[in-house]
Amino acid sequence: MKILALSGSLRANSYNTAIIKTLQHLDSRVEVYEGLGNLPLFNSDLDNHTLEEDNSPPLVVDFRAKVREADVFIVSTPEYAHQIPGVLKNALDWLVSSDAIVAKPTVVISASTSAMGGDKAHAQLVALLKVISQNVLEEASLVVSKVNKKIDEDSVVVDKELLMNLKVLLNEI
Ligand SMILES: Cc1cc2nc3c(=O)[nH]c(=O)nc-3n(C[C@H](O)[C@H](O)[C@H](O)COP(=O)(O)O)c2cc1C
Repeated sequence: MKILALSGSLRANSYNTAIIKTLQHLDSRVEVYEGLGNLPLFNSDLDNHTLEEDNSPPLVVDFRAKVREADVFIVSTPEYAHQIPGVLKNALDWLVSSDAIVAKPTVVISASTSAMGGDKAHAQLVALLKVISQNVLEEASLVVSKVNKKIDEDSVVVDKELLMNLKVLLNEI
């Protein structure tokens, strides 16, 4: 089984990226998608594909291939102004018209320094993925509040409950 994991943050010391990398550390089936910041801005004029061939920008073709080949797609998102980050929405816009994510089991994590854990971004991402994948594994999803108290400055998860929740998540997929 292949699991593709994507952090919605470009920050070098991102807590969401630390969560994704911890999942990879816990389970070698997890591949981390690193190309979020290099994807072109979505423009449907450049979204040039049929079911047989994809002549969209090469980084988009590669992103779609990675999503298509995965058995499960995990996304961990921060929350900015009660929304998912623009860079994450941009990446997901490239998947909208593609078959790559259709029926793909997807898992949503949100992590924020706030007490609410980015719950509004979490709900938005679930709603968005329900439209494009139609297969959100809600029982495996996770909202991580006050994440700065749970992950240290070396991006190590120090909170036992969070670590356990990540293991449970991996067991549920
Ligand atoms: C511009 C900005 C807006 C933010 N807005 C929210 C918000 O609406 N809700 C929330 O829970 N956290 C908010 N935060 C806190 C982020 O969720 C927090 O910094 C989180 O750690 C960022 O994710 P990362 O560590 O993966 O980069 C905001 C942070 C920034 C920089």
